[in-house]
Amino acid sequence: MSTIGIAIVGCGGISLQNHLPGLTLCKDVRVTALCDSNPATLEVARQQTGCSVTSTSYEEIVRRDDVQAVIIATPNATHAPVALAAIEAGKHVLCEKPLGMSAVEVKAMADAADKADVRHLTAFTYRFVPAMRYLHHLVKRGDLGTPHHYRSCRLQDWGTRNVGWRQQKRLAGTGEIGDMLSHRIDFAHHLVGPMKRLVANLMTLTPVRGGQPNDTDDWVAILAEFKSGASGVLESSKLASGVNESWRSPDRVEINGSEASFSFTTGAWGELQFGKIGGPGLTSLPVPREFWTWPGSPRDPQQGDPLVTFRYDQAFEFIDAIRNQRPCAVTFHDGLRMQEVTDAAVKSAQTKQWVELESL
Ligand SMILES: NC(=O)c1ccc[n+]([C@@H]2O[C@H](COP(=O)([O-])OP(=O)(O)OC[C@H]3O[C@@H](n4cnc5c(N)ncnc54)[C@H](O)[C@@H]3O)[C@@H](O)[C@H]2O)c1
Repeated sequence: MSTIGIAIVGCGGISLQNHLPGLTLCKDVRVTALCDSNPATLEVARQQTGCSVTSTSYEEIVRRDDVQAVIIATPNATHAPVALAAIEAGKHVLCEKPLGMSAVEVKAMADAADKADVRHLTAFTYRFVPAMRYLHHLVKRGDLGTPHHYRSCRLQDWGTRNVGWRQQKRLAGTGEIGDMLSHRIDFAHHLVGPMKRLVANLMTLTPVRGGQPNDTDDWVAILAEFKSGASGVLESSKLASGVNESWRSPDRVEINGSEASFSFTTGAWGELQFGKIGGPGLTSLPVPREFWTWPGSPRDPQQGDPLVTFRYDQAFEFIDAIRNQRPCAVTFHDGLRMQEVTDAAVKSAQTKQWVELESL
């Protein structure tokens, strides 16, 4: 396969910010078709990409012969139908998180992708953060010892503004948990392994956003036990007034083990905090240059804002996996594990009980 043709389904925020610049970095890749249900958004994407094949129907787009792979970046409720249509047409799929509306739905996506032997990637973009990759490397190397505690806290100030489809359960599934905490749940799995059971709470403190009803969670907290015996505490909020948003607001991951502790804050992209057992406390640990880009990525880490540009390596990983006919680094099965935690957290909040994680 020389040139790989890509269709983008959903040409809104994340496609223009992450996927297109990422694809631009990849050699012998061409965006051959665009799809969006909103003709005005489609026209903006057509002008930005120069791609003249556009449609409001994903069914039409995924079947095209000049499309080998599909990037899905639509509201969450539409991920499964688009992915299943693309897989049925034999196309490789990069799908945004959360992959679907329930673990049952996501399992069908993962099974279909495996059966069709296409590459599948869940866009847990934070797996590509240089410091988080370095942290994973150190933990797997044994520098942490036995993991005791995983902790993550993601706080943003979104106020009461209208967040469109994100405040409608029928389109989003959940609010803060799917939107933001999903990345941290996946990273917890990546570092510590699967969760065994959890208790959680979800709260909707703004039932009206920008004059429209909001039936999704603004805040979520999960208390978890991992199968390894480690504990987990994960919190995420849209309502931390005054703390700013995006990577400019507090976003922290910590892990404590029998030998050491490490922590990472998104804003400080090039370092971890590290402390050894019995030592004087946390000190800065610079991220070595070899972790600044994903292995093989042609990206120059000194170009652009490092808090943004690491995201472009995700498209490179997808294309590289297609070219080399190997599994992607983050598959639909990772998306499924995250979805199982989401389903369990929602159930726990509803029943006010601990919930055992049952892997589908
Ligand atoms: N990985 C990340 O870090 C990250 C960051 C932001 C968003 N996301 C995810 O990306 C997805 C899109 O989010 P966004 O912020 O770009 O939203 P957005 O609203 O900016 O864009 C979504 C686009 O999909 C289009 N659309 C809706 N239904 C469609 C359909 N049936 N067929 C074709 N197009 C359709 C809309 O018109 C819109 O242009 C969500 O799943 C979100 O969770 C992931």
